[in-house]
Amino acid sequence: MTSQTITTQTTTHSAEETIAFGRKLAAELSPPLIVLLRGDLGAGKTTLVKGIAEGFEAALAEDVNSPTFTLVHEYRGPRATLYHIDLYRIDTQRDLETLGLDDLLAPNCILLIEWGDKFPCLRRDRNVEITLERVGEEQVGETERRIQLCTR
Ligand SMILES: Nc1ncnc2c1ncn2[C@@H]1O[C@H](COP(=O)(O)OP(=O)(O)O)[C@@H](O)[C@H]1O
Ligand SMILES: [Mg+2]
Repeated sequence: MTSQTITTQTTTHSAEETIAFGRKLAAELSPPLIVLLRGDLGAGKTTLVKGIAEGFEAALAEDVNSPTFTLVHEYRGPRATLYHIDLYRIDTQRDLETLGLDDLLAPNCILLIEWGDKFPCLRRDRNVEITLERVGEEQVGETERRIQLCTR
């Protein structure tokens, strides 16, 4: 047993379905929030952010891509400013501090962080954790994903 409460669990069967789930999820998210996105490479974290950004009318899905190299992307919508962050290449607490994420968490902001669970301080401070997993055998072309959403 974990102390976390699973508030939503769903299964999607395509990237489009994951984007649609993200669009609906946006209606449930109110800033300020730290959202950790967990899952292996290719699990669908960035794909889910495409939907969340569309739901917030902050960006079109096709304009949202991985911040693996740029580290932080900003999308401004009428209801919130989204920061899509990828910490895959960030390994030390010191490098994390250099990014200055604390400064991004203004009252109207939502941080959507991939690989944030590497850092205990983010695991502690996060408000929402979304875990994406491939379902069943790992086969080429497998498109089923389980998505679990936990709040504190
Ligand atoms: N059900 C699904 N949900 C999300 N992505 C899916 C799904 N099925 C297939 N895919 C594909 O898996 C890949 C997920 O990539 P991405 O979202 O960048 O993953 P991550 O950010 O977790 O590394 C994309 O190529 C996407 O088209
Ligand atoms: Mg990604």
